Amino acid sequence: MVVVMAPEATSADVDAVVRLVESVGGQAFVSRGLSRTIVGLVGDVADFEALNLGSLAGVLRVIRVSVPYKLVSREHHPARSVIRAGGVPIGPGTLTVIAGPCAVESPEQTLEAARMARSAGASMLRGGAFKPRTSPYSYQGLGERGLRILADVRAETGLAVVTEVIDPGSVDMVASYADMLQIGARNMQNFALLQAVGSAGKPVLLKRGFSATIEEWLSAAEYIAQRGNLNIVLCERGIRTFETATRNTLDISAVPVAQRLSHLPVIVDPSHSGGRRDLVVPLTRAAIAVGADGLLIDVHPEPKTALCDGDQALPEADIREIADIVASLPAFLGREPA
Ligand code: E4P
Ligand code: PEP
Repeated sequence: MVVVMAPEATSADVDAVVRLVESVGGQAFVSRGLSRTIVGLVGDVADFEALNLGSLAGVLRVIRVSVPYKLVSREHHPARSVIRAGGVPIGPGTLTVIAGPCAVESPEQTLEAARMARSAGASMLRGGAFKPRTSPYSYQGLGERGLRILADVRAETGLAVVTEVIDPGSVDMVASYADMLQIGARNMQNFALLQAVGSAGKPVLLKRGFSATIEEWLSAAEYIAQRGNLNIVLCERGIRTFETATRNTLDISAVPVAQRLSHLPVIVDPSHSGGRRDLVVPLTRAAIAVGADGLLIDVHPEPKTALCDGDQALPEADIREIADIVASLPAFLGREPA
């Protein structure tokens, strides 16, 4: 059970809820977010119902749901949500394209990739300044210098920026440059990091872990929501299967399944899914056709020299085809480019 406090609730109102819950032997966990305070209850639901918590001062809503994720579920919020990142809408009715280099390598490479992203129909720029690499000897990103490059490119192109944060200690610093914080597949269950981005006051792009079930993915989103941040976009990026022809297997059915279970927007990363340039266009078509709310696509001015994931990056020659698909296919399915 979850008690959502009204924005104007006082500390005394929250304390009153906690005391009442504890008086019947329950435990109350208070999460104070930037825009709302949420009290998670653990204990006997029947005892809690008898307390009539909904009538207490400062209580906005009491939620009883049957799934381990509550705030992100459609049981709690039946209408699908539209999230805004740097002013760009992501959600039902639109198709939002986010594109850019896998990793920020230099000002010139990032600006050129941003230009390609825009030509492909993107309204947001992706790019990693902190790269989560399998090997410690692989390119780790430019760190804060990379974030400054992203901010400069945003100023020059007007594209909103999403970039990955990989440790709780740097969340505030990354948030000071980015319009949206990305949690990568490798960190989907880094609970301290999820809580930190939940408190950072910026929208979050939550990628699905390699081996995460949809329930685990939504439960990870719940950690962010529990901190008062419901501005979350889910990203299906392929899962590990026995298949070796592709880097990962795009779980296309995860898109409608997650959209049915959760009100959060769901986008697809056709680049990390296949890990192969030749699959990006077909997987993009599949993602739009299945109803994804957006796309996250790697592009690079010179994929052969890319310091990370060059095999899956689209070069200039493929941008036109993505632009054509993005301009025509969503409209055919009753949606608009964001
Ligand atoms: C890219 O965005 C990731 O950092 C990359 O896919 C990591 O993979 P690798 O380190 O195994 O090459
Ligand atoms: C990325 O998009 O930069 C990335 C690291 O992807 P993933 O976490 O899905 O591997």
